[in-house]
Amino acid sequence: MGNRRRRYLIRVLREAYTMETRSTAQLTASVQQLHAWPVIRARAAAHLSETEDQRRLLAASLAGLRAGPSLFANFSVRLESLIRRPRRASSPAAAVAALGDSYLFEQMEIAVYTVAIAAAQAAGEPAVQETCEAILAQERRMADWLLEHLADPVRSGPGR
Ligand SMILES: [Fe+2]
Repeated sequence: MGNRRRRYLIRVLREAYTMETRSTAQLTASVQQLHAWPVIRARAAAHLSETEDQRRLLAASLAGLRAGPSLFANFSVRLESLIRRPRRASSPAAAVAALGDSYLFEQMEIAVYTVAIAAAQAAGEPAVQETCEAILAQERRMADWLLEHLADPVRSGPGR
């Protein structure tokens, strides 16, 4: 039972790590796309640096469980981000679409960390649980911020 719970926790953490690798690529694209909206762009850049920390924390948690990230999954994510080169959003509609994608992504992250917290608790790993709770709080803040600012490009028009 204990081993099964530990294996499940490792699986969820690997999934979270892969997700944050994808998130890093997505946020890097957003920062470029949202060139014309400096306030939103600055928040995306701040969350990009949070996301880089989250990846480090997840890697450390996996190392603590004597496991590592899923290398193949990360390889495919990197490949994906090379193929999908972002374009700058020049219209409010394009900016809103980019923000909407980010918002959906944050909701997925919230779901994954909610499961990761339960998995860490079940496996008796309080340090991992704490790490996931801290990350979940950052994801919630980002999701709230995005929802609050989702319509800003519509209100302010291009170049704000
Ligand atoms: Fe996030």
